[in-house]
Amino acid sequence: MNTATEPTGDLGLPAYPAARSARCPLDLPAEYAQWRLGDGLQKVRLWNGETAWVVTRHEDVKFVLSDQRISADTLRYPRMHPSAQQQVPAFPRMDDPEHARIRLMLTKDFTVKRMEAMRPQVRALVDRFLDEMTAEGDSADLVESFALPMPSLVISLLLGVPYEDHAFFQEHSVTINQPDVTPQDKGRASAELFGFLMELVRRKQREPGDDLISRLIAERVETGELKPEEVAMNGLVLLIAGHETTANMIGLGTLTLLEHPEQAAVVRDSDDPKVVAGAVEELLRYLSIAQDMIWRAAHEDLVIGGQEVKAGDIIAVNLPAANHDPSFMENAGVLDIGRNTRGHIAFGYGIHQCLGQNLARVELTEALPRLLRRLPGLRLAVPLEEVPFRGTMAAFGVHALPVTWWANPTTATAAAVPVPGARWAARARGRRGPW
Ligand code: HEM
Repeated sequence: MNTATEPTGDLGLPAYPAARSARCPLDLPAEYAQWRLGDGLQKVRLWNGETAWVVTRHEDVKFVLSDQRISADTLRYPRMHPSAQQQVPAFPRMDDPEHARIRLMLTKDFTVKRMEAMRPQVRALVDRFLDEMTAEGDSADLVESFALPMPSLVISLLLGVPYEDHAFFQEHSVTINQPDVTPQDKGRASAELFGFLMELVRRKQREPGDDLISRLIAERVETGELKPEEVAMNGLVLLIAGHETTANMIGLGTLTLLEHPEQAAVVRDSDDPKVVAGAVEELLRYLSIAQDMIWRAAHEDLVIGGQEVKAGDIIAVNLPAANHDPSFMENAGVLDIGRNTRGHIAFGYGIHQCLGQNLARVELTEALPRLLRRLPGLRLAVPLEEVPFRGTMAAFGVHALPVTWWANPTTATAAAVPVPGARWAARARGRRGPW
């Protein structure tokens, strides 16, 4: 067993998360493969000077995400969260039984059956955004015109959040998630977003609609099981989770397919839904966009992957490293949309496994093939090095994806594509914290 030593010389520890290579941004940082091979777990230094253990092996990640001695309630550690006590708790940061109590109130809204029933509506929205994007010209920022608004509108409809307000909540959720924003500004943005949701809950108490928030009010608030502020906080979690992650997966998934044209052709040309579904699962595994999103804390002393971990230690769960673990999957660093991806953990594992995964699958299996079929000439409008990646941010992706589908490649209107790259790239060089 590898025994934890006191953090002598913490300044010499590797910074986490490690940076990706600028030349091959889709590849994982080389350190992760080394850490997987190491004894025990890797100790790292976080952005705020604290230390944490990083879990990189597939088996160890599954262990961490299912052992009850390890908690998702990282808010209990005020040294990491100076303002934690002021927050209304949200169920992703709770342990069972509190977590299960709230999650069970939401699962029926996200079953495979319910999400498949939404497929025609999702398809119509995909086509609507593609119509609007192509009507504007022959080049666009795919994130702004398609990857972000489509899932954003879908989750807004599901929750009953007026889509007219999307600019407000997108701007505020960006503020919360940006690394170079002061704690005061982040606090202000969180409070404003929460206030926005509280106001919505109050409005729906007076004028209910046919949506998730109205249902929670009718079935749970009026029975005294939930407080209105709990509906607001958990609605906010769904709103942010529902558009941030899928949007990144659409943007990055498109870019990855453009970088693998022979596999893009299979997704475009296949009329077999199983082929498209398999391709989406492999993209989810290969990209594992939840690169720095999953944090846990040990509630008691225990051993993880041969490493002694002390009560109170912070644990970073590295899903990309786990999904690229050669002991889980051969040639894991290669994109192969025909492979069997069973057991991938891109949506997490255990009790906190993604609540919205069935919705994300419907959105991705509609968005990616329909985009490729509609625009067979789709390609990047700038060199790969100029695409602004979300580097070490919690969810990997691209801030913008300048694309063109102009028929004559030699006269493509790449110059007309808005590339907010410089601004985003500067921000992406920083990083956000786990909480
Ligand atoms: C491709 C898209 C998505 C990816 C890769 C993704 C990934 C994840 C991951 C890895 C977790 C586990 C977090 C943890 O263990 O701490 C998670 C949890 C969660 N996701 Fe997603 N997600 C996606 C889409 C969505 C959507 C569309 C929704 C909207 C409904 C959503 C809502 C949630 C919620 C509420 C949780 C917390 C569940 C719990 O703690 O019980 N996600 N997601």
